[in-house]
Amino acid sequence: MSEIRNLINITDFTVEEIDELIDVANDIVENHSEYEDICNHKKLGTLFFEPSTRTRLSFEAAMLELGGSVLGFSEAGSSSAAKGESVSDTIQTVGCYVDIIAMRHPKEGAPIVGAKRTTVPIINAGDGGHFHPTQTLTDLLTISRKKGRLNNMTIGLCGDLKFGRTVHSLIEAMLRYEGIKFVLISPEELQVPDYVKASMDKAGAEWVEVESLEDAMPELDILYMTRIQRERFFNEEDYVRLKDSYILDLDKLSNAKEDLTIMHPLPRVNEISTEVDDDPRACYFFQALCGKHIRMALILKLLGIKREA
Ligand code: NCD
Repeated sequence: MSEIRNLINITDFTVEEIDELIDVANDIVENHSEYEDICNHKKLGTLFFEPSTRTRLSFEAAMLELGGSVLGFSEAGSSSAAKGESVSDTIQTVGCYVDIIAMRHPKEGAPIVGAKRTTVPIINAGDGGHFHPTQTLTDLLTISRKKGRLNNMTIGLCGDLKFGRTVHSLIEAMLRYEGIKFVLISPEELQVPDYVKASMDKAGAEWVEVESLEDAMPELDILYMTRIQRERFFNEEDYVRLKDSYILDLDKLSNAKEDLTIMHPLPRVNEISTEVDDDPRACYFFQALCGKHIRMALILKLLGIKREA
């Protein structure tokens, strides 16, 4: 029997494996009918101990479009966690019912605990302020579709870089490509954690920390906006003080490149003004669509299913 693969951290996959996932995601769009029944009789469990719209629904849509079915819960309160059951017991139980599990949990590392207790593949759909590898796969597919490459570009990451798990995973992923410069735009209190800085230094990456979005704008190829992560703040006062740190509007885009790609994992609160949505550089809803395609490719990979050539 082949070894069970999980996706806990983006670096669980090699760059070559990520390329393959991107190819399959593109093939799914081009040859959609070939994939319609490919996961017949397979079940995906979606265990969401924390709220989600895009991640959970795109996983569910992905499995349904592959001809499989989905079961699970969308909040801890409607699972036995409300009765005091441990994560590992919940996972071990659900692993008896499904073929693959996508889980989100507010505690960093929870999916690792889960993966130890089951023999079905586990996908980390976000663990606290730590990592969010499937958002990163989504982001990589979006960048590849928009730019035609994943190397040689300047990426501005703006907002809550401390608690924003999508930022941490995206940096980890992009460190493996040539010629990437990171411009980290945040208030001092919301800078990326030290372990992310250590990874960038270890990889010999070029990175700078700045506070002004306007000053950084002209050199950016990608602008990755994020919301201030209210639920991970220790007190409301700090959140209120920092919540309006960055609001991207058309005025701020006046000195941006014409082929800038504006991304956001969503949900947005107010950090991108809605007037930006009609700008051709705004890609965040396209990004949400990419999320479904790449999750279809991911489910196939972890289940070991390929379309017949
Ligand atoms: C992100 C998350 O959950 O970390 N959302 C998502 O999955 N698309 C970003 C966020 O909540 O700010």
